[in-house]
Amino acid sequence: MGIRVAIVAFLAGLGTWAHAADSIEALANTCNNCHGVNGVSVGPTMPSIAGLPQAYLTNVMLEWKSGTRFSATMGRLLKGYSDVQIADLAAHFAKQRWVPQAQKLDEARVRLGAQSLKRCEKCHGNDGLPRDGETPPVNGQWAGYLYLESLKYHDEAVGMSNRQMRGAMKRLRDEDLRAVADYYASQK
Ligand code: HEC
Ligand code: HEC
Repeated sequence: MGIRVAIVAFLAGLGTWAHAADSIEALANTCNNCHGVNGVSVGPTMPSIAGLPQAYLTNVMLEWKSGTRFSATMGRLLKGYSDVQIADLAAHFAKQRWVPQAQKLDEARVRLGAQSLKRCEKCHGNDGLPRDGETPPVNGQWAGYLYLESLKYHDEAVGMSNRQMRGAMKRLRDEDLRAVADYYASQK
């Protein structure tokens, strides 16, 4: 290979690399419009997505894309993304740091939540940190969001796919759902 050809090939390679780097940033910027800078949300019903487990991110996005997971917004949005883009986004957000958010919460409700964790601790602990690679962290996630998600698992008609979560939420009363949401939201 002549030196000029080599340089052209090298620059072309750089171009591809720079383009690939651009495109994940550009893709992620769309998400950050709603989920906050680098996926760290300023709340209160919009979840932070920075630092969620990669397996969880991939799974929920593919379920939304295929229409098997209920959502207000994400299902419609992800129809426009390829599986490769979804995998790249999951890898990108999983690499960001999980940032628990300080929130104004009702202290009596947080205390009630602390007493209602029997069905949760196996996977979420009493600190809201995941005990395995598929459970999302819930410590310092926005309380309003946690409560809205809890309702989806609680209501069989919504048809969430995770049976263990449906089982855990099933017998909780509305005040317990609010209490555990506030409790986990209060964890650092
Ligand atoms: C128009 C606002 C909006 C945009 C843009 C958006 N989201 Fe969302 N996202 C939401 C809402 C609202 C929810 C709560 C679930 C629902 O109702 O759809 C959510 C939920 C999520 C969740 C679940 C979080 C959890 O804790 O389980 C993930 C993951 C997610 N979005 C990823 C993304 C990614 C990746 C992008 C960019 C491709 C994106 N979102 C773009 C509004 C948005
Ligand atoms: C057997 C393990 C297990 C148990 C027990 C469990 N969870 Fe979960 N939880 C998970 C997993 C896994 C997910 C993600 C499920 C999915 O993909 O839909 C999840 C999701 C959640 C979410 C949604 C988080 C988000 O970012 O969208 C909330 C809120 C939650 N759990 C709260 C609870 C509470 C409160 C209890 C007890 C009443 C509980 N969980 C019991 C494993 C568990």
